[in-house]
Formats: sequence, structure tokens, C-alpha cells
Amino acid sequence: MSRLDSFIRRLEAQRACLDWAIAASWDLAGVALELGLGNGRTYDHLRSRLAHAREIFAFDRQLAAHPGCIPDSDHLLLGDFRETLPALAARLGRGAALVHADTGSGDSAASQMQARGLVSLIDPLLNLGAAIVSDQDMKPDPRFGWLAQTLPAGVAEGRYFLYRKAG
Ligand SMILES: C[S@@+](CC[C@H](N)C(=O)[O-])C[C@H]1O[C@@H](n2cnc3c(N)ncnc32)[C@H](O)[C@@H]1O
Repeated sequence: MSRLDSFIRRLEAQRACLDWAIAASWDLAGVALELGLGNGRTYDHLRSRLAHAREIFAFDRQLAAHPGCIPDSDHLLLGDFRETLPALAARLGRGAALVHADTGSGDSAASQMQARGLVSLIDPLLNLGAAIVSDQDMKPDPRFGWLAQTLPAGVAEGRYFLYRKAG
């Protein structure tokens, strides 16, 4: 497989997993969280698919998004996740129905470690039944009740990771 093929497959997998999360959480009340706004591509996908069905809060340590993909100031949380997630949890409580954690960098060991640490920061925000999509294996501790979900057809094992908060 060429690097181009691999890149396209990764993006197709990401889109399929986001679409799974949108469908899986459709009947739940709550906001969506985009962890890792980055360029804003996946934020824009969520925004276009959700239309105005949910508020979307986007997180990043810095703003580097395409100008057309910048949330308004009420929905943009700039700073380290370790500060911004607890701050939103204090405001919303269990108010999220969908979480996309796209937080990986070129350093896979550091990305893995960070993703595992995010579980306890995300969990206080989750409504029961919430769908969580991650580019990293978050290896949630069973006490959080995050149940691993089957990947959509065509998505290779290990490319993306899906969970639901037991309800
Ligand atoms: C893979 S990129 C996100 C790409 C984005 N979803 C898109 O589609 O354009 C990961 C992002 O996570 C952010 N990030 C990683 N660790 C972070 C942390 N601890 N706190 C805040 N942002 C972080 C990085 O700054 C980076 O923009």
C-alpha cells in the first residue's frame, strides 16, 4: 500500500468513526466535545453533520485552525486539556453525549500516555450512553464503565477506538 493509500484509509476511517458516534449518540441529550481542534477538519465534519443539533466545544492548547473552522469564543477552550476539561466539567457536569479525542502527535508513546490520562478528565463530562471516539487506545479502567465498541465495516483494527459510557 502506498503512503497515499494509507493516508486516505486513515481519513476514511476517521470519518466512518465520527459518523458512527454521531449516529450512536443521536437520541441522547448533550453537547459534543472535540479534543484537538488542530486545523479544524474534524470539527468542521462534526459541525456539518450535527448542524445545530448540538453545541460543540473545541479544545486545543493553541489556535491553529482554518479561519472558517474557528468556534465562537464561548465554544473554544484554549489551554492544556488538564486545565480546560475540569473547567468545563465544573460548568456543565455530565453534559456531553459525544466526544472525539484526536490528540495524537508524532510521538506515539507520549500520545498513548496522554490518551490514557484523558479518561479520568473526560469521564465527569459524560452522559450515560455517550459515544467516545479516539485516535488512541485509551485503555479505560473498568471502573469508568467505558465499553469498547465494534469498529465500522472497513476500518482496520487499531486505527481508531470507540467506546460508550455504560448507561
Ligand atoms: C492530530 S491534531 C488534531 C487534528 C484535528 N482534529 C483536525 O482534524 O484538524 C492534535 C491536536 O491536539 C492538540 N493537543 C495535544 N495535546 C494537547 C493538550 N495536552 N492540551 C491541549 N491540546 C493538545 C494539539 O495542539 C493538536 O492541535
